[in-house]
Amino acid sequence: MPLALLQSILRSIIRSAVRVLIYCTSLKSVPSTPQLSENDDLRIRNHVLRLVNLREEVSHTFKSFCDVRRMLSMSNGLKAQYREKLQNSNACMLPSFCSNMPSGQEKGTYLALDVGGSTFRVALVELYGRSVREGMKIKRMTSSIIDEKVRRLPSTAFFDWMASNIEEMLKEDNENDGQTWSSDSEIPLGVTWSFPVEQTSHRSGKMQGMGKGFKCHQDTIGKDLAELIEVACTSRGFKVRVEAIVNDGSATLLSQAYLDPDTTMGMILGTGTNAAAFLPVASMGKSKFGGRDAAWFTQATSVVTNTEWSMFSKGIIPETRWDEKLNTMHPLPDFQPLEYKTTGRYLGEIFRLIIAEAVDKKALFDGVMPKTLLEPYSLDTAWMAKLEQDNSANWMDSAAMIQSVFGLKVAPTKHEVEFLRTVSEAISQRASAIVAVAIHSLCSFQKDHALTTTDSAGASRASIACNGSVILKYPSFKKNCEEFLSQLIIEESYGTNSSKNDTIILEPTHEAAVFGAAVAVALSRTTK
Ligand code: BGC
Repeated sequence: MPLALLQSILRSIIRSAVRVLIYCTSLKSVPSTPQLSENDDLRIRNHVLRLVNLREEVSHTFKSFCDVRRMLSMSNGLKAQYREKLQNSNACMLPSFCSNMPSGQEKGTYLALDVGGSTFRVALVELYGRSVREGMKIKRMTSSIIDEKVRRLPSTAFFDWMASNIEEMLKEDNENDGQTWSSDSEIPLGVTWSFPVEQTSHRSGKMQGMGKGFKCHQDTIGKDLAELIEVACTSRGFKVRVEAIVNDGSATLLSQAYLDPDTTMGMILGTGTNAAAFLPVASMGKSKFGGRDAAWFTQATSVVTNTEWSMFSKGIIPETRWDEKLNTMHPLPDFQPLEYKTTGRYLGEIFRLIIAEAVDKKALFDGVMPKTLLEPYSLDTAWMAKLEQDNSANWMDSAAMIQSVFGLKVAPTKHEVEFLRTVSEAISQRASAIVAVAIHSLCSFQKDHALTTTDSAGASRASIACNGSVILKYPSFKKNCEEFLSQLIIEESYGTNSSKNDTIILEPTHEAAVFGAAVAVALSRTTK
């Protein structure tokens, strides 16, 4: 065997032995090993020290966001931004045409589309009314993944892709259920659109810029969304009529309000984030309402409003150097600062940027960035969730997972696993604190305008319908968020007339996007 090869095998055996040894010890007691020279020992100690220092820095920096006083001041700052944008922005705080919440009596069978950040669903939804136990049911649903390839489709190609999925679902329903979707009659449908849209009626809205890596807005901004969908379906030989367009935040609010009249807000935290709330018409500038006729204003006191809160927080919520880096490298810098710190699309990327820094400092993975992490957005947030869920002894499961996901030749050391786990927790905990701040500030705005339920002792109660993988599935996220909300309520009660008995409940929803689109169609029919 050639000498060089033998030396390289020996070096790799020693490296593995050292890693196993380090894995099984803590920093304070890293023993020197007989195989190592003093220089090697020192080098390894320095690696570990750099890693521990960075771990502490990340942990401290991210946890400093979770200080309740700081959070309350951010909440007040955000509320001021909400007020300002309610007057003069055409990108956020977008009023819909829904000036009534559902009564819960709306009934019927409707076709609903849910265009999300990572899935597109077509569903046939049945509404029975609030008094019936189930209230609403999905009769049939198809779901298609929106991967990077679909995200990058230009306008006509994207809408054609949607139309082909709708066609497939209708065919399936015809075949299986004797339902007759004839190609001559117009099929009424509701659309949940997980992007901003400037509504021009219940059933129409102008396309606006889209985040989440989508491209189909580039040549369609200002065009009518309903028309884009209808034209794509017509060119495939079937006719649809869009009867309602709602943002996914509004769909979440409407679907839960259909079941529970105490619902005051709908919140999304998945690939992206948003909230929709019932807000007073009087709190908004005239320009927000476009050219809607006088009759609408005579019957509307409050209106379901798509806040697009992802766009808020610039100058209110501080940035770490990793946030700054993410923002600079983003195709739309500063577009959605709140989203860049809190959602499924970005938590993994913040994590990847911190890993890259640790690798650069030669503190992690022997200074070599795993190939699987070289590309931006290559670290899936779902993977962080798995890491934080691991309860195995010494996080052995995490070590195995890191090795396989990152394609490492040798298992990570215990310090490396600890670093990754601590950083992941710090990132997700900060995200839950920021989301709590955003909820608190919007609830507080609603409370100022008497839009929450108040008991005889003056304590208010807000029920927030929640949807999205991060809030519903990320380990401890919802619990942390609720904990931060309780702390904020207590902190706010000191020295103000706000009650420490206020409650903000985070209510998980089920399939809110498709149910919400159906409720929106039913509502648009009753308010015509
Ligand atoms: C979009 C919103 C959407 C939210 C949640 C954001 O990126 O701008 O319109 O509601 O994601 O899906």
